[in-house]
Amino acid sequence: MTTPAPVRLSSWPTPLEPAPRLAAALGLRADDLWVKRDDLTSFAGGNKVRKLEHLVAEAETAGATVLVTSGGVQSNHARMTAAAAAVRGLSAVLVLSGAPDAARPGNLALAELFGARLVVVPPGEDVDARVADVAAELQAAGEVPAVLPLGGSTATGARGYLACAAELTEQLPDLDSVVVAVGSGGTMAGLVAGLGAERVLGVDTGAVADAAARVSALATALGATVGELRLRGDQVGEGYGVLTPAARVAMTTAARTEGLVLDPVYTGKALAGLAAAVADGTLSLGRRTVFLHTGGLPGLFGHPHAAQLAGDLMGRV
Ligand SMILES: Cc1ncc(COP(=O)(O)O)c(C=O)c1O
Repeated sequence: MTTPAPVRLSSWPTPLEPAPRLAAALGLRADDLWVKRDDLTSFAGGNKVRKLEHLVAEAETAGATVLVTSGGVQSNHARMTAAAAAVRGLSAVLVLSGAPDAARPGNLALAELFGARLVVVPPGEDVDARVADVAAELQAAGEVPAVLPLGGSTATGARGYLACAAELTEQLPDLDSVVVAVGSGGTMAGLVAGLGAERVLGVDTGAVADAAARVSALATALGATVGELRLRGDQVGEGYGVLTPAARVAMTTAARTEGLVLDPVYTGKALAGLAAAVADGTLSLGRRTVFLHTGGLPGLFGHPHAAQLAGDLMGRV
């Protein structure tokens, strides 16, 4: 089967911006650090839209009428899937695991705005089994469901980051390393396939137990010969979604040097990994490093840290 051309869901290329004040704060030279602004895409921003351009094309080719996907209650991927469905005239069902809390609206509020249907799976229950049930129910009702996996990380989805690798090569031909948060692995895999494993530094956020294996498998499926991956596992802390002290510092530093808003789950940990890589010499002075900002802002407002930040500010009044 030939791969269908991607549908267009955002404007490309995203900007690549210098980050001299953040570079200095991290101990780098002013022109060592650049930020690829994939937080500035459509659908409230983030990396998943590049994957969805390919996944939705595949779903539409198969005649889909409804997109079904899964994730945690604050899944950025689920929110963007809901938006992609809306603009393509499809429906979306989000099968989300956890305990939704209206006091932490974040991505949930946006998913409602985009018109998705929500199915909540209590913590500990089998999400994939529930997704299969939902797909079967939709089919029985005459719909054609397309099931998109966790994080949109199939080889098809990861193709979106091959395109990003090409943009980066054009925008900064002498780039040495791209630093990226790793969840389900498709984003890093596409970059590895496009730039080579030696130029991509992934920072594991603890979303899946086997991040390295997933990245390798996806990059291989895209035709890459994957040598040794550069994947840091030192920023997970107490687990996926739990803010670490280093990510908290990274978020504050990015905001107070460049006005960049990072999130506690992905990009805060990714920048903490970049800072750790400068400190241990993995990333060195005089080389061009790109921090891939993968979005996640809505997730900040679905995380307890947002209330903490407001409380800290009010405590200083
Ligand atoms: C904001 C953000 N950054 C990074 C990632 C990680 O991307 P991937 O799942 O492709 O590893 C995600 C995944 O959900 C995300 O929402």
